[in-house]
Amino acid sequence: MAVNLSLTVNGRPVRADVDPRTLLVQFIRDNLQLTGTHVGCDTSQCGACTVIVNGNAVKSCSALAAQFQGAQITTIEGISGPNGELHPMQAAFKECHGLQCGFCTPGMVMNAIDVAQHYAAPDEAVIRDQLDGNMCRCTGYHNIVKAVQAGAAGMRGA
Ligand code: FES
Ligand code: FES
Repeated sequence: MAVNLSLTVNGRPVRADVDPRTLLVQFIRDNLQLTGTHVGCDTSQCGACTVIVNGNAVKSCSALAAQFQGAQITTIEGISGPNGELHPMQAAFKECHGLQCGFCTPGMVMNAIDVAQHYAAPDEAVIRDQLDGNMCRCTGYHNIVKAVQAGAAGMRGA
C-alpha cells in the first residue's frame, strides 16, 4: 500500500503517494527529477547522495522516503540564490578547484554546508574528519579541504 508523503523540498511543498520501499534518493531523483543528487554506491559508502534533512546531512540512499514525513529537505538544486547565484560553498569549490569530474561534488558540497553550519571555523582536521564519508576519485582531497574552509568563511561573511 502506498504511503501518502507530504514534505518540503527546496522550499516547496511536495505531496506524493510512494511505495513504502522507495529510498529517499529514488524519491528525489525519480519522482522529483532532482538528478543533481547522485548515486555512487547505493550502500552508504560514498556520500554522493548526501542531502540536508532538517538541518543535518543525510545519505539519501540509506533511508526510506517514508521516514521523512513533514521533513524539510534541501538538495543541491536548492542552494543557489534566486537569480542562480552560486552558494558560497559552490563558489569556493569553483575558486579552489575542489572538483574535477564533478560526480562527488553535489554530495561533497551538501556535506560541506553541514560542516560549516555545525563548526564556526572548521580547521583542516575537522574538515577531513567530517568529510570522511564522502569519497572523491579525482582530486586527492587537498583542494576540497581548501574549498570547504573558504566556503565556510564565505557562509559566515568573512
Ligand atoms: S550512493 Fe549513497 S552513500 Fe553512495
Ligand atoms: S571530482 Fe571526480 S569523484 Fe570527485
